[in-house]
Amino acid sequence: MATEAQSSFDILLAEDRVYPPPPGFAAQASVNDPQIYAEADKDFEGFWAKHAESLDWFQKWDTVLEWDVPWAKWFTGGKINASYNCLDRHLADKGTKQAIIWEGEFGEQKTYTYTELHAEVCKFANVLKGLGLQTGDRVAIYMGMVPELPIALLASARIGCPHSVVFGGFSPDSLSDRINDAEAKVLITQDGSFRRGSVVPLKQNADEAVKKTPSIEHVVVLRRAGDKAQIQMQEGRDLWWHDLMKDASPDCPAEQLDSEHMLYILYTSGTTGKPKGIVHTTAGYLLQTMLTTKWVFDLKDDDIYWCTADIGWVTGHSYIVYGPMANGATCLMYEGAPDYPDKDRFWDIVQRHKVTILYTAPTSIRTFMKWGTEYPERHDLSSLRVLGTVGEPINPEAWMWYNQYIGHGKSPIVDTWWQTETGAIMITPLPGITETIPGSATVPFPGISASIVDENGKDIEPGAAAGYLCLNRPWPSMFRTIFNDPDRYVQTYWSKFPGRYFTGDGAKQMNNGYYAIIGRVDDVLNVSGHRIGTWEVESALVDSGDVAEAAVVGTEDVITGQAIAAFVTLKTGIEGTEDERQKLKQHVAKKIGAIARPKQIIFTADLPKTRSAKIMRRLLRDVAAGRVLGDTTTLADPAVVNELKEQYEQMGAAE
Ligand code: WT7
Repeated sequence: MATEAQSSFDILLAEDRVYPPPPGFAAQASVNDPQIYAEADKDFEGFWAKHAESLDWFQKWDTVLEWDVPWAKWFTGGKINASYNCLDRHLADKGTKQAIIWEGEFGEQKTYTYTELHAEVCKFANVLKGLGLQTGDRVAIYMGMVPELPIALLASARIGCPHSVVFGGFSPDSLSDRINDAEAKVLITQDGSFRRGSVVPLKQNADEAVKKTPSIEHVVVLRRAGDKAQIQMQEGRDLWWHDLMKDASPDCPAEQLDSEHMLYILYTSGTTGKPKGIVHTTAGYLLQTMLTTKWVFDLKDDDIYWCTADIGWVTGHSYIVYGPMANGATCLMYEGAPDYPDKDRFWDIVQRHKVTILYTAPTSIRTFMKWGTEYPERHDLSSLRVLGTVGEPINPEAWMWYNQYIGHGKSPIVDTWWQTETGAIMITPLPGITETIPGSATVPFPGISASIVDENGKDIEPGAAAGYLCLNRPWPSMFRTIFNDPDRYVQTYWSKFPGRYFTGDGAKQMNNGYYAIIGRVDDVLNVSGHRIGTWEVESALVDSGDVAEAAVVGTEDVITGQAIAAFVTLKTGIEGTEDERQKLKQHVAKKIGAIARPKQIIFTADLPKTRSAKIMRRLLRDVAAGRVLGDTTTLADPAVVNELKEQYEQMGAAE
């Protein structure tokens, strides 16, 4: 498998480049005894149960784990509420502590203490009840990065309504598909959000989407963009957030929910078909997000914690909302772009708010590298003490840049591997214990067991070849199923290697046992740390009406990790002009969202296929990357590929 990825990867990793915890860090770290791994391994259920004691339960569980492969139930018999654990239990001793420090793109500031946040959440939970929502009903949320977004999540959780957050960059079609799959009754959105000074027309998009969603009864609209957004409110259906909140009572006891009550659905791309509704439940998810936030970031009571992800993705769910707030942390939230008004915005924020923990993505770090060191150098970053990354493999060069120019060599870097499906961090350093190696996510979190296996499911020894990354036992924050599609849950994740969870990632263990994740081995791309199924982009291309057939592959990109290259066969009579190329790119962006816009479109009279008519993606990847062609003897028409390659070369970089 993935041999081409493996070779470049070997050059990048240097096992002699070891970074022990910076001087003094281990001594002050809340976890600094390596024994923790052995202890957790000896009895992983006992380990999780011990830490589950630090959640607040209405009723304690009877059974830690029921495991009927691949169906898991954690802490059955227990009664708990995520919103209660993130808010109410902090009121007595942290009521006046800042829960959210929010900064708008134009520099506006808004803060909420835990007491204030609790009141807003209770009020909004009552609003949702007033709209007729009952425990179990789904709520769709399509917003920008405003404080009302975590408020909406925590209010839904409070009354036991699973939320389905749809990233604000997604198109109306993507939104309506997700609403329909979840059959959400209420959609929460805003008039518009801000990105690089311009308005993202969320309400207009929502109007488009809701035309096709029979389940939606009401649309709640937050006013954020005001006069800058052109919106219309539909009488009876659309309601202003501020109108509803005016008379809402701040008294709303949290529902006592089963441990396995569905907390949320979050859609993510797969290899085929529509996006998968990943289902997370309450107690186990809360436990693992809480514990990983505390240990991986060495979270202390006085930290100012900033995760730069959007709450539209799982990172924001787990590491802006549930994990940090279950710990009673102070979370910074920034609405806008990192280069608005200038390329030093992040560092300006770090300095002004004295951010101590920063969690961001390799794609951002590479962008900062490209912009140059002058931007971080303009600011005092000495408050920072832990740095994290997530979303894709971090190349050692970016790691070292992050270490030198942001951490100034004194902040450990935690490269955290996990997935929407895993719900929480799975492979990661613990900053007071682990010696890090740039490019490696190091070792499984205590209680987690991973392996690299070959095609036959046989374990591969450390230091040997790359293989498939699997997880060997259940973990509390694991997803429980795919919404409406339990068969796909079994098929996609639990059938390739029976009894084990298959991550979809290729990885390798270094001689010392450290894991280095290479990337996806399936037809899923990772663009800027976001998953996009090749199939989704192909369908969007075909949907344009001009395309007979399309095949999408990933190419390497210095900033985004992977970029999308589309090989397109046009219908007879349609010409492969530059205008057509732009039109198709535009169409994909409109269908799915700007994140899925192909970087390259290569027109071809035919696509290279095997004799069994399977598109040869590997070959297309080579063509798109301009690599030498491999063995083409299984091609039905070898001439096609050479033609493809020629066209590709003529196009040059073909932006
Ligand atoms: C895929 C999951 C988990 C939140 C963000 C993405 C890749 C994630 C790392 C890392 C190498 C990583 C994997 C994984 N990935 N973190 N530290 N090193 N690769 O969530 O959209 O569910 O994507 O992101 O390929 O399978 P996601």
